[in-house]
Amino acid sequence: MPVLHVCTEVYPLLKTGGLADVTGALPRAQLGQCDARLLLPGLPAILAGVHALMPVAVLPPRFGVRDARLLRGQLADGLTAYVIAAPALYERPGNPYADANGLPYADNALRFALLGWVAARLCQGLDPHWQPCVLHCHDWHAGLAPAYVAAARRATGRALAGTVFTVHNLAYQGSFAEEVFGQLGLPGDFYGIEGLEFYGQVSFLKAGLYYADKLTTVSPSYGREIATPEQGCGLDGLLRARARDLHGILNGIDGVVWDPASDARIAANYNPLDRRGKGACKRALQQECGLQVRDGAPLFVMVSRLTEQKGVQLLLGALPEIVASGSQLLVLGSGEARYEHALRAAANTHAGQVAVRIGYDEDLAHRMFAGGDVCLVPSRYEPCGLTQLYGLRYGALPLVRRVGGLADTVVDATLEDLDTRSTGFCFDAFTQAALGAALRRVQALWRRSADWAHVQERAMRQPVGWDDAAAHYLRLYQDITP
Ligand code: ADP
Ligand code: GLC
Repeated sequence: MPVLHVCTEVYPLLKTGGLADVTGALPRAQLGQCDARLLLPGLPAILAGVHALMPVAVLPPRFGVRDARLLRGQLADGLTAYVIAAPALYERPGNPYADANGLPYADNALRFALLGWVAARLCQGLDPHWQPCVLHCHDWHAGLAPAYVAAARRATGRALAGTVFTVHNLAYQGSFAEEVFGQLGLPGDFYGIEGLEFYGQVSFLKAGLYYADKLTTVSPSYGREIATPEQGCGLDGLLRARARDLHGILNGIDGVVWDPASDARIAANYNPLDRRGKGACKRALQQECGLQVRDGAPLFVMVSRLTEQKGVQLLLGALPEIVASGSQLLVLGSGEARYEHALRAAANTHAGQVAVRIGYDEDLAHRMFAGGDVCLVPSRYEPCGLTQLYGLRYGALPLVRRVGGLADTVVDATLEDLDTRSTGFCFDAFTQAALGAALRRVQALWRRSADWAHVQERAMRQPVGWDDAAAHYLRLYQDITP
């Protein structure tokens, strides 16, 4: 079955968050079952990273560009990727969505409308040699693709491809001024409550939610949460109306890229049965990051975008308690300046016990999960979350807030579950007190080293691959294939 994933990021070429990990792994996991391909905008990192690019089609003038072309090439793992070469829209260095000052590009609506429009054209024979039966669209950047397909179905009377829209994060909506609508080339009646209008604006996210045949999000719990007013970001009504089509499908992780038994980026390899290498990883990480080299206390690690979503404020509040317990903390991340400053200040005050790396460093992230004892994910909300899954695989027990995908993937180390199911630590309320209590439970388990070792081994054995998700997506695709 030919399936086209429509997205802006893909690991290892271009990544700002977990979306890239998913689009880098899921299509490959599907290859036994589907002919999965990608459609990507021709951002510099993508043009540079896709090999053997060949012309497929010249695109007609649209969205203010005259010289756009569709190319086709291969990723390093052999996966086929279509790339839209439109220099005026895409050839900008750095972040795919925003300029050097962090401001969204003024023409983002047109940049991502082109992505959705080309996706819909691929369903109508733009590449004479290959046509998708299913468009799988990721996040608001690809949200117009189902709308263009719906418009083309109406105009031609043909079924065209089935469409799936996956919400990786409902808070990012791709909203633009009403005036933009006239430039999108969609039928006039698409701008309305029964369409992509959202509080007087054009919403690319709502376009995906309204027009796609099936909706998915990246964990069952988040699927339930976004259908409530508290977490629905104003779209919960639409999500409730579409409840029959909405599926929560838990993400996996790439078991080749993230495997402590073979990871070449870490100081020593180890596996669930023989975890001695993990000690070497901890010592190497402490040395690398200027922490005191010692084994006796837990090393907490956090790899994260530093935003409100991720609970950085909560972590900052818990810092005195972590320090007072003699534990160590290492944070890798970048994001809001207020959090970066506060974390840097904490590292200065508690040199040797707290260390912070501001920036983006994929290799260090691997070394942190390998060397860390506990991986912190105290999120306010979390659609799925991948770092707790990396923590499980590498035996850095996740300490998570019980929300979204975190609730679906970590089992709390309570006394009754300790011998059978526990894989980490969970807390409920988004409060200092609740996080503090969880931190004290970490210390209690740490002191019972045999129990810690059992939980760690169990965590590392959890199935966190893509098999279940790939099978679930395949069933959805079969439901909507014309
Ligand atoms: P989100 O997509 O909301 O940021 P996820 O947990 O799904 O959260 O995915 C985040 C991904 O980005 C993970 O692969 C994580 O390791 C990675 N990551 C986040 N910040 C950094 C950083 N500063 N350096 C390296 N990797 C990072
Ligand atoms: C989003 C979410 C994150 C999820 C990722 C991949 O960035 O914030 O929770 O893991 O997408 O689906």
